[in-house]
Amino acid sequence: MRIFLDTANVDEIRQAAKLGVVSGVTTNPSLAAKEGIGTQGGYKKAVLEIAEIVDGPVSVEVVSLEPEAMIEEGWGIAQWHTNVVVKLPSTPAGFQAMAHLSKEGVKINQTLCFSVNQALLGAQAGAVYVSPFVGRLDDEGHDGMALVADIAEIFKKHGISTQVLAASIRHPLHCVMAARAGAHVATIPFKVLTQMTHHPLTDVGLAKFTQDWQKVSKK
Ligand code: G3P
Repeated sequence: MRIFLDTANVDEIRQAAKLGVVSGVTTNPSLAAKEGIGTQGGYKKAVLEIAEIVDGPVSVEVVSLEPEAMIEEGWGIAQWHTNVVVKLPSTPAGFQAMAHLSKEGVKINQTLCFSVNQALLGAQAGAVYVSPFVGRLDDEGHDGMALVADIAEIFKKHGISTQVLAASIRHPLHCVMAARAGAHVATIPFKVLTQMTHHPLTDVGLAKFTQDWQKVSKK
């Protein structure tokens, strides 16, 4: 399972990229707004900077709601950089835009996916990735990870090539469960990535190795 970073914060992406474990980035309008990135060319500038840091897919979401406007906006976004993946919502307008843009060779990330049926439609519309939102389903008392597992199993059964991208990941256990459920990718906040690097026994073990080595290193 590949790891993408779910953020529009360029500093976080820069730090994470140094680890050499992140192979893509996903953004959305809320994440961009959190960084104060607006529409006056700010989103594009940030995405181009991200694409310089991470040599992999960078998902950028459309904000239009009508199919024609989504197609126009998605097409424009796709021209920003070869690594840009256009994020479209799991709505009738979104599916229409996915079908149109995927035929034009635009790579699509189907976002806001909350059911197997939506995932099946996105796959038919040519989405390269489908993003089930795990944490948001959990928030509503549903089993978000069961949706990831269902989509992964059904896609495998039918030879569907759309990749399952577990999104709305809230903690490190979500990441383990996404891998177990067969997700191809998990997109995670920087905080979760940092948490994944830590284990108290690693710290204790390293301190002991260092301490023991110091006893003999000067002999
Ligand atoms: O990229 C979309 C997704 O990961 C959002 O996560 O935490 O806002 O539900 P969250």
